[in-house]
Amino acid sequence: MRNADFEPTLAAAERLARRWIDGIDSRPTSISSSAADVVAAADRPFPEMGLGGAEVLEELAAIAEPGLASTGSGRYLALVTGGVTPAALGADWMVSAWDQNAVFADLYPGVVGVELAAARWILEALDLPGDAAVGFTTGGQGANTAGLLAGRHAVLAAHGHDVETAGLIGAPRVNVLLSDEQHSTIPRALRLLGLGTDCATEIPTDSEGRILLADLSVALDDSEGPTIVCVQAGNVNGGAFDPIAEISAEIQRRKSHRDDIWLHVDGAFGLWVRASNRFGHLAAGVEAADSWAVDAHKWLNTPYDCGIVIVRDRGNLARAIGYRAAYLPEPGAVPDPVDSVVESSRRARGVPVWATLRSLGRTGLSDLVDRCCDRASDLAAALQKVEGAEVMHAEINQIVVRFDDPTGNDDHEGHTDRVLAAVQAGGECFPTGTTWQGRSAIRLSVSNWRTDSDDIAVAAAALTAAHRLRG
Ligand SMILES: Cc1ncc(COP(=O)(O)O)c(C=O)c1O
Repeated sequence: MRNADFEPTLAAAERLARRWIDGIDSRPTSISSSAADVVAAADRPFPEMGLGGAEVLEELAAIAEPGLASTGSGRYLALVTGGVTPAALGADWMVSAWDQNAVFADLYPGVVGVELAAARWILEALDLPGDAAVGFTTGGQGANTAGLLAGRHAVLAAHGHDVETAGLIGAPRVNVLLSDEQHSTIPRALRLLGLGTDCATEIPTDSEGRILLADLSVALDDSEGPTIVCVQAGNVNGGAFDPIAEISAEIQRRKSHRDDIWLHVDGAFGLWVRASNRFGHLAAGVEAADSWAVDAHKWLNTPYDCGIVIVRDRGNLARAIGYRAAYLPEPGAVPDPVDSVVESSRRARGVPVWATLRSLGRTGLSDLVDRCCDRASDLAAALQKVEGAEVMHAEINQIVVRFDDPTGNDDHEGHTDRVLAAVQAGGECFPTGTTWQGRSAIRLSVSNWRTDSDDIAVAAAALTAAHRLRG
């Protein structure tokens, strides 16, 4: 009786989800409704009477679908967007049906155990220390914040300051060294940590977005107090990697005579190259870091929202964010997720990670990375042949391109923006814009397991046509 509404509701959910997924390849990548349209369609007084689950889902799809982005499409090249693998989607549905609170191993062993297995596979795939702590966060922002929280704890503890009890009052200044190309989630994390963005020293980068090693070395010499160094494995625009092996070596040298330096790697998508034989060398040296951030919902192609924080010494993360209360279980033999994430209640978002890794295996994961890089390289090569197109940087799965104004008016910025707008509206592929080296550019990210050579040909043709038509 109580289960009666599940049957038609789940049937409707499956039918509507299938309809959405079946249309992924044929639906235009443009978005037909704006946010204001969706709000107008959805905005009505709270209804007096409820509705059956199946009807609710029909209504929901009718309101939301016109405004949904085609993130599953192999031609959706915006931000850094993975599609969803079948195994990940299926597992995600099961996570909702199971509805476990994945924080305490004793109370929810089914999902905590599976997340621990996923954690082990991640460490193996990325070739990071097998006993590191792994937390499944909401995304890269959460992972960067958690990694830096652990770092803040450790570098202040090295100066005898217990930040968890004393807070930052009376604490020595923490110096954060990062590049002027760091992802904006890092300064945001510094704000959340109470360190403030003024604690950061921005080191210049080369024309591809790599931190300049010599300048970082000088800044390290000048940084006498607690120091956190943030490096990047995969620039959000062009995909560049900081020279991490050299930076790690510099930091290891200093660690032999001081214990107040922490190295954090923001590898939201780029860290996955470690799973590839062909591209892993780009992230050589990251294994010497103290903490790492990587996303599952980007290149691993799990559903939003899932990031991963990894901390070499699990005690640093647990001391920074763990908590206990009289009504909650004591720590047991199996690590509790509550000691590695900031949530007190949470969805078992690591389960779809397990399912994705189980379905891919080592070979499939390596192949996913290689294929995306190869398709991105095909797209960059196709664009390079277009007169007036300038591929400003292309590395791993990322491309930054701009277009010269062919009208002779020298409005290159405006022309590039118009090409982007025309391609987005055209519905054949969906890139997004950026500013790169001070100029308007279009960024293309090939992060979806579905993207194939046909998708790349369509994307190249759409960009080329938009450029030429506007000439
Ligand atoms: C290098 C880098 N770091 C952090 C992030 C933030 O990740 P999220 O959006 O999952 O919080 C991104 C997102 O693109 C990124 O590319």
